[in-house]
Amino acid sequence: MRNNNFEDIAFNRKSVKVFDENVKISREEMLEMINEAIKAPSSVNLQPWRFVVVESKEAKDTLRPLIRFNVRQNDTSSAMILIFGDMKCYENAETIYGEAVEKGMMPQNVKDDIMNMFIPFYERASKKEMNDIVKIDSSLAAMQLMLVARRHGYDTNAIGGFEEDQLAQAFNLDPERYVPVMILAIGKSNYEIHDTTRIDAAEISSFK
Ligand SMILES: Cc1cc2nc3c(=O)[nH]c(=O)nc-3n(C[C@H](O)[C@H](O)[C@H](O)COP(=O)(O)O)c2cc1C
Repeated sequence: MRNNNFEDIAFNRKSVKVFDENVKISREEMLEMINEAIKAPSSVNLQPWRFVVVESKEAKDTLRPLIRFNVRQNDTSSAMILIFGDMKCYENAETIYGEAVEKGMMPQNVKDDIMNMFIPFYERASKKEMNDIVKIDSSLAAMQLMLVARRHGYDTNAIGGFEEDQLAQAFNLDPERYVPVMILAIGKSNYEIHDTTRIDAAEISSFK
């Protein structure tokens, strides 16, 4: 059963920090949720997001010392989803656009234009520029994953409090290539959810 009530999914989403430890999420469903999340848009469709699903006791033991005050989420969640951005995502451009042409979604000349115009820009981009691009793109997928999780009956907590300089290496990723973006704790809530306030739109918006 999927929850397809957009209002409930989006407006009743709240950060959950303690989960029912008995709830496991199958790999099949986890991949289904990730596939739904990566319908998110990304710059030049380069899809820099990468996911490491921390679900085993061993992997959670590896993560525990790296997540500061977020230990409860680690210990009770069904999984901690580590989201990284691939600083060399442009290396997949040929595959991504080749498939689009093959499937008739894009004419060859449009692909050629993209490969000739945008990809060299990425190849020449500074570390800071790439870091910004992959974090913006991956954050959109992270938000979508939080909503998709609710569609599947789960709750999440976005986590930014972790040892950024150690996360990739701890999970055998090249730290030069994969920058940590966010961790999502996911599972079934076992928590009294607190409501949170928002500054009203009128105060934070301007019309020109
Ligand atoms: C990028 C990001 C990082 C966050 N990091 C943490 C964190 O490290 N630990 C935590 O408990 N909550 C963390 N949060 C959750 C926020 O505190 C929470 O989203 C905010 O208070 C609004 O509450 P709500 O999600 O229930 O609407 C993070 C949220 C975001 C978007």
